[in-house]
Amino acid sequence: MYTQKMLRDGALNGKTIVVTGGGSGLGKAMSKYFLELGANVVITSRNLDKLKATAEALEQETKGTCLPLQCDVRNYNEVEAMLKGAVENFGKVDVLLNNAAGNFISPTERLSANAFDTIIDIVLKGTKNCTLAFGKHWIDTKQTNTSVLNIVTTYAWTGSAYVVPSATAKAGVLAMTRSLAVEWAKYGMRFNAIAPGPFPTKGAWDRLLPGDLKDKFDMAKKVPLNRVGDHQELANLAAYLVSDFSAYVNGEVITIDGGEWLKGAGQFNLLEAIPEEIWDQLEAMIRAKKSKS
Ligand code: HXC
Ligand code: NAP
Repeated sequence: MYTQKMLRDGALNGKTIVVTGGGSGLGKAMSKYFLELGANVVITSRNLDKLKATAEALEQETKGTCLPLQCDVRNYNEVEAMLKGAVENFGKVDVLLNNAAGNFISPTERLSANAFDTIIDIVLKGTKNCTLAFGKHWIDTKQTNTSVLNIVTTYAWTGSAYVVPSATAKAGVLAMTRSLAVEWAKYGMRFNAIAPGPFPTKGAWDRLLPGDLKDKFDMAKKVPLNRVGDHQELANLAAYLVSDFSAYVNGEVITIDGGEWLKGAGQFNLLEAIPEEIWDQLEAMIRAKKSKS
């Protein structure tokens, strides 16, 4: 594992970055690195106490400036107020990182209509609310060199059983990313996405691998590189994508999963279970058939 910090000091100087769901997990890890690189960071979520504690800790660790603002992304009025608060504080916002999410495992037939809606509302409608509010603001104020980074998942394109509302919503977010990358490029906005594989966080693991599921389904075993991701690995990629170093990257989704989704996809990938010595016998059998035909 290589977890050195990637970008040069000051690489995000002068940028203000809003991170939804920035009070915990991956949002917090990305926020921390943005602060270390010189950005001002606004962290938002529903829980203001949590945000305040995180902002204080991050400011102490990084000596950067981190503003906590309460905002339920499901509510457009709250999103507009959050944007106003960020602009009032820092003069402008340059980057929106749509990271907030809701998810839990469940057989789909056990979900109420409201349960399904809840996930769609946080992930798809929440990303839409933030993107629309920030996009309109950037267009109205003629601010350019702005960007939106969306956190999706690899099942945005494969789909996944037992997390169907999340898969449905993340697929929508990916379509939004690619669509607006084209439509709003003329306003100086870039749109990209990251599709992380397993990166342990309390929020995700409590809801996706509750109880002893985390031992029964060791996520590392699903990954060709045989490990889960480290938060700094994701933060390095996110920092690159929100920095000016990626100024020509637009409409892209970058997977960072150690090869996990491809391992599930390749038809003969299961053959990895075959020990080396058996390959001699298999090769001999195949060659024998060829010489007889
Ligand atoms: C079935 C459930 C349920 C469960 C809640 N509901 N949990 N149904 N099984 N385990 C139902 C409720 O009964 C209710 O429906 C509806 O869902 C809304 O629930 P509330 O608790 O009222 O919602 P709310 O307080 O808004 O909380 C949202 C939440 C919660 C999504 C349910 O878990 C949350 O706050 N999550 C935020 C953080 C999070 O999820 N992080 C993980 C992201 S991980 P009824 O009909 O009863 O009213 C991720 C990783 C992807 O996305 C890939 C990993 C590899
Ligand atoms: P997490 O810590 O639970 O993060 C989710 C965040 O979203 C929380 O900070 C939560 O804060 C916020 N949130 C939830 N509902 C909200 C709402 N209505 N309005 C505003 N904020 C809301 O989990 P995580 O693992 O770091 O997930 C972060 C992102 O990575 C998500 O997009 C997730 O889908 C994605 N992802 C994670 C993994 C992984 O392995 N961890 C893999 C693939 C993708 P509050 O509760 O305070 O509102």
